[in-house]
Amino acid sequence: MTVTVRRVREEDAAATIELLSPIIASRAYSIMTELIPYQDQLDFIRSVRNEGVGNVAVDETGEIVGFQTVGGYFSETPALAHIGDIGTFVRLGYHRAGIGGMLMEKTIPEAVAKGFLKVMALIRADNPAALGFYRRHGFETIGTARRHARIDDRFIDEVMAERMLVG
Ligand SMILES: CC(C)(COP(=O)(O)OP(=O)(O)OC[C@H]1O[C@@H](n2cnc3c(N)ncnc32)[C@H](O)[C@@H]1OP(=O)(O)O)[C@@H](O)C(=O)NCCC(=O)NCCS
Repeated sequence: MTVTVRRVREEDAAATIELLSPIIASRAYSIMTELIPYQDQLDFIRSVRNEGVGNVAVDETGEIVGFQTVGGYFSETPALAHIGDIGTFVRLGYHRAGIGGMLMEKTIPEAVAKGFLKVMALIRADNPAALGFYRRHGFETIGTARRHARIDDRFIDEVMAERMLVG
């Protein structure tokens, strides 16, 4: 499989929902529990294109196999405007093939160029792949928020990790 990474576009809204839906439905990787409405995804793509970073990994047929974004973190105050909230999603069945790494290689320099000084990730403590992935890409654990998410009446710890982009 030949994979290339390009900037996400508004017309990717449906395909990125289609990538995310089984990941969300599995209840295994993310604390997202609801399928994403089309308009919300379109708005999100517009916002990361304008204020953040958004990239997709595409195979040789044009199918989207990965999606990574850096969005404004706690955007309600300019005091946190230098922090990006990173999210990475690789299509189920395509994991551990280097796609997440390819996305990271494009996204991090773009986040630097956009003026972000650090990126943060909230990772489910029961998601060893994501913990290993972010660690592999220079994220350091800040701590574990205990019983942070509640899904189907089960509490899940979340690990907060950060990567400084400058200094
Ligand atoms: C986490 C995720 C994005 C990683 O993407 P990926 O394309 O599978 O990762 P890569 O193949 O680029 O792996 C890069 C490195 O990450 C680490 N890694 C990836 N998967 C791992 C796993 N299952 N266990 C431990 N380390 C892992 C390794 O260091 C790996 O390097 P290596 O293969 O040379 O050892 C992917 O597993 C995914 O989309 N999971 C479902 C959604 C999700 O959990 N997103 C994160 C929410 S916080």
